[in-house]
Amino acid sequence: MKRREFLTVAAGYAGMMVAGAQVAPPAPPAAATGPFALPPLPFAENALEPFISARTLSFHYGKHHKTYVDNLNKFTAGTPLAKLTLEEVIKETASDVGKATIFNHAAQVWNHTYFWNSLKPGGGGKPSGSVLTKIEKDFGSFDAFKKTFVETGLAQFGSGWVWLVANQGKLEIASTPNQDSPLMGKAISGIEGAPIFGCDVWEHAYYLKYQNRRADYLKAFWSVVNWAEVAKHHAAVNG
Ligand code: FE2
Repeated sequence: MKRREFLTVAAGYAGMMVAGAQVAPPAPPAAATGPFALPPLPFAENALEPFISARTLSFHYGKHHKTYVDNLNKFTAGTPLAKLTLEEVIKETASDVGKATIFNHAAQVWNHTYFWNSLKPGGGGKPSGSVLTKIEKDFGSFDAFKKTFVETGLAQFGSGWVWLVANQGKLEIASTPNQDSPLMGKAISGIEGAPIFGCDVWEHAYYLKYQNRRADYLKAFWSVVNWAEVAKHHAAVNG
């Protein structure tokens, strides 16, 4: 039995990765040389200033995310995996320690695309509708939710992600190390439920502007959260 059961909702998410662009996106970096493409950034690299700097995004998207894609293409070249979708590659490699490198890169490609679409210029504020209602019900208040989310992100040792997860109708916050996400199921991530929102807390997400101050990054990023996208994820999970 595979130790990683996941992606039951991945196909739905793939269809939700829509651009919330209010600013013309930049031309993507050089085209991928394999079947896995680097999705266009859904906003200009300077569109999240001053909260996330253009220089940070130029490296985070244009170097780190692109490198995950390039390496995924390189490591899967000539293999049956090259004919699969990104989500299928993640599913196929998640339980195979011999393909951990492929899995790591594929998962990070997915995570970053998900992350970019969870941000938008002029975002922030509060969610509305059922997302806000659920947050206030499950965490006591929106501020209490933010406090727990930030504390969880700060407590993640080293590289990783902090997530808002819908678990059997209840919203919960959890973190994962490195490339893992709640999509991979409890056996891998230790988390039950489906992600509806996530934040990258790798140092490469903030070091160029905030250096070691992860707390400052986690304070600033609320100003660019794309709550409409989070609402789509929440609606998809809750049918
Ligand atoms: Fe990242």
